[in-house]
Formats: sequence, C-alpha cells, structure tokens
Amino acid sequence: MENTIEKTFVIIKPDAINRALTGEVIRRFEQKGLKIVAIKMKHLRDEELAEHYAHHKDKPFFKDLVEFMKHSPNIFMVFEGVRAVDAARQLAGSTYGIEAEAGTIRGDFSMSRSNTIIHASDSPENAEIEIKRFFDESEIFSYDRIDWVEIYSAEERGLPR
Ligand code: PPS
Repeated sequence: MENTIEKTFVIIKPDAINRALTGEVIRRFEQKGLKIVAIKMKHLRDEELAEHYAHHKDKPFFKDLVEFMKHSPNIFMVFEGVRAVDAARQLAGSTYGIEAEAGTIRGDFSMSRSNTIIHASDSPENAEIEIKRFFDESEIFSYDRIDWVEIYSAEERGLPR
C-alpha cells in the first residue's frame, strides 16, 4: 500500500452534535495524527442529500436517513494525512454501532445502524467527489502541523531513507 498523502471527507452527524460529542470526535481525529484542513457547520439541503446518498435511494431506510440528516445542522470536515481515507474509516468503526469494535467512534458512542455519529468517505475517489460537493477550493487550507515529524517517519514523509 502506497504511503500517499490524501484527503478524506467526514460529516459529524446530527446525533453527535445533539449529544455534544463534537469535541470528542474531532479530538480522536487530531490525536490520531490527521490534520484538519477544512471545517464548517450547516444544514443539509434536500438536493445535497439526494446526491450524497444517491447509492441508497432505493433502500428502505432512505427516507428516514434523509430526515435524520436534516434534524439539525451537520459539521463538515476535510482531514489530510498518509492514507487518510483508511485511517478515518478505522477510527469510525463499522456502520452498526452495536457490532462496531470498542475503541472506535461508533463502537464507543453508537447503538444504531442509522444514528452513526459520523460519515467518512469509503475510497480516495469518493473522498474527492464528496469534498468537491461540500467545499469550495478556497475553503481548504494548507499548513504544517508542528508535530508531523513525530507522527511519521522520514520515509513516510517522502524523504529518502
Ligand atoms: S450499506 O447499506 O451496505 O451500503 O451500508 P453502508 O455502506 O455502511 O452505508 C449505509 C449508510 O446509510 C446509513 N443508514 C443505514 N444503513 C443501514 N441500515 C439502516 N437502517 C440505515 N439507516 C441509515 C448509514 O448510517 C450509512 O451512512 P453513511 O453516512 O454513509 O455512513
């Protein structure tokens, strides 16, 4: 697996926001070593939801999923790091909270298949599409975290051995 630096897209969903878990969720991403490069809070519009969950539009839970995602604002974030998509999916845990491994976000905070605390992109290709859907280029930042030399080895940072 390549050590490429990539971006991933994360939504902190209404259940997490209403349960005041926002700080806890962000803390886990930051402590893991992922860098926040974009963040905003807003209500999701029907068109955005139809697009974002197009692959679920024929599922029996689609209507409830849309209602759930609209019942309060969401927080949208972009994280950057080596293999950020995989790292974020590992942090999230599997979809069904009861079956998600303890220590993951869903394993620790969710009992549900629908109230799943966060959404995290499932591939670098989808991350790119989702980031473009919710962020303007000008809303994505580039900066150095002071601890990145401690988070990765020189090789992982792209320097020769
Ligand atoms: S699936 O069904 O295999 O495609 O499941 P998954 O890829 O994990 O994504 C499902 C997303 O839909 C949300 N959702 C539900 N999934 C399953 N069952 C029920 N009842 C349900 N209700 C909502 C689930 O939280 C996943 O949301 P995202 O935002 O993609 O993580």
